[in-house]
Amino acid sequence: MSDAEQQADRARAQDDGAPLDDGAPRPDDCETQRPDDHEQPARRRGKTVHGELANAGHRVLAPDDAEVEAYLEVALDAAAPERPQVDLPGGAVPRGEDSSGEPDTVVVLDFGSQYAQLIARRVRELHVYSELLPFDTPWAEIAKRRPRAIILSGGPSSVYEAGAPRPDPALWSAGVPVLGICYGLHLMARELGGEVVSVAKREYGPATITFTDDSPLFEGLGREQPVWMSHGDSIVTPPPGFRPTARTMSTQFAAMADPARRLYGIQFHPEVGHTPRGRDVLRNFVLGIARARPTWTAAKFIESTVDEIRSRVDAQARATGGDGLVICALSGGVDSAVAAGLVHRAVGDRLTCIYVDHGLMRKKESELLRATFEQHLGMRLVMVDARTRFLARLAGVTDPESKRKIIGDEFIRVFEEEAAKLGRIDFLTQGTLYPDVIESTTPETKAAQKIKTHHNVGGLPDDLRFTLIEPLRYLFKDEVRLVGLELGLPAAMVFRQPFPGPGLAIRIIGEVTAERLDTLREADWIVIDEIKAAGLYRSLWQSFAILTPVRSVGVMGDNRTYANVVAIRAVTSEDGMTADWAKLPYDVLGTISSRIVNEVPGVNRVVYDISSKPPATIEWE
Ligand code: XMP
Repeated sequence: MSDAEQQADRARAQDDGAPLDDGAPRPDDCETQRPDDHEQPARRRGKTVHGELANAGHRVLAPDDAEVEAYLEVALDAAAPERPQVDLPGGAVPRGEDSSGEPDTVVVLDFGSQYAQLIARRVRELHVYSELLPFDTPWAEIAKRRPRAIILSGGPSSVYEAGAPRPDPALWSAGVPVLGICYGLHLMARELGGEVVSVAKREYGPATITFTDDSPLFEGLGREQPVWMSHGDSIVTPPPGFRPTARTMSTQFAAMADPARRLYGIQFHPEVGHTPRGRDVLRNFVLGIARARPTWTAAKFIESTVDEIRSRVDAQARATGGDGLVICALSGGVDSAVAAGLVHRAVGDRLTCIYVDHGLMRKKESELLRATFEQHLGMRLVMVDARTRFLARLAGVTDPESKRKIIGDEFIRVFEEEAAKLGRIDFLTQGTLYPDVIESTTPETKAAQKIKTHHNVGGLPDDLRFTLIEPLRYLFKDEVRLVGLELGLPAAMVFRQPFPGPGLAIRIIGEVTAERLDTLREADWIVIDEIKAAGLYRSLWQSFAILTPVRSVGVMGDNRTYANVVAIRAVTSEDGMTADWAKLPYDVLGTISSRIVNEVPGVNRVVYDISSKPPATIEWE
């Protein structure tokens, strides 16, 4: 074996691709933003993967497991799930005074910055639980979370604008440490009696900041730091009790503090990658000034979540005389896998996972699921071979939307039949993530719920009503992956690229037949294999093959061929909403191409899709 081959084999073995990306948020999360995007109003939530309003589109809101969940929610005609009164991790677990079930919390108030979620993620990287709430959340609501600290996000408004967002003023005198970022700083200055002026032209960009005071917020940092500034308003006079703590070329008041009241404000963004020491500033605030305990770890989360699930299921079983049975639909994606892993740890064999094999999956998918869930984790798994049913219904169908509808509808039918065989089921596990929960709490995004109805599929009968268990509702995707690893799920499952619910059906342009599925499956397998061998798998959002209906002429040996064209798609993306085509190395593309043409019967030409999203979409249908 050549050196290169050995190297490729090592990369394959190392899970499915060397960890170019460890799944954690990348420091340069914001670096792809154009400066003039800097503080646009928060991206309107409740949008489809195309950025259309959620209920106007035909595709689901999020990639990965969302599709299966959408089918189920439609089927259940599910209202927003009931959540514990104090919606905190471990919140349903009875606890004594000194229980550690509930983590220390930092509340981030969202004033419309596109980085608001990023602030919460950064705080969580410090192992402190952080929750994002709308800027106008009443103080009583905030206080219920017993926050150790509050962070005010930036925002696109000027504090002088009519209707500029303002928090409940009780915030300022609650004795809880507050950090105002950018708009949050100006708000703090204005509301507490300082003077702020609007500058004519908003500017965003890199700047050098000079710390002018020994503020605990900047402890351990050099006197000068590169930061990402946002100059909209500018402080002229800090409020009584505050002193300036940093300046830049354009302002004497780039930061201010009133240490006695533990109120701090900064005009730069510590959460973005362009502020290299920003994490230290957040650490100084959260762990130093606010003294929050860094107890938010995957292991602790698992412990309290497992307790919570168990006590809920037991309580319901006692109250209803039932067995407390739980089901979970596995899609092959990471969310449903981790959700199932948590519930299994809590209730063991009372959980049954159902995996509907619609025949539109990638090669060896069913084997991977069986090996992971049944053999490795010892879960009860019902694998339904529904391939013939789905194929029969898809016969002759070429329209992408009809394909999606048929698949959704058939999924529900199969799921319903299987669930009915299990007897009385009390709970359904869903892999809802924190961003979905945040979205469903704001009025503008109630529409997000409606996306789930786009499939227009039939509902389950009335006697099949479940209570939802959503063990991931507090987690960002990065955290789900960490929890998955901690639960012992294989890295190959935890770091999977998203895969759409309708599977290969929307990557076969034209009719879906068993033969065409086999062709695509083989080509897809080679793409993934070579991408992993090159150590690129985790750095790509998605990489896959598309079977086009185009046939072209080729030569093989002495013979002329007339065979299919396969397209390769590989993109980088943060969330699937926008994407860049990946600049794959030529030799990787070359190997993929020659392997497909040589190994996959019926394909004689391979092309690479070099379109970004927008205007193209990631999937071809
Ligand atoms: P597009 O093609 O819209 O895809 O740029 C964005 C992300 O969404 C996934 N996707 C789907 N996921 N059901 C799904 O579960 C669908 O019908 C669907 N269509 C697109 C796609 O794989 C990409 O990650």
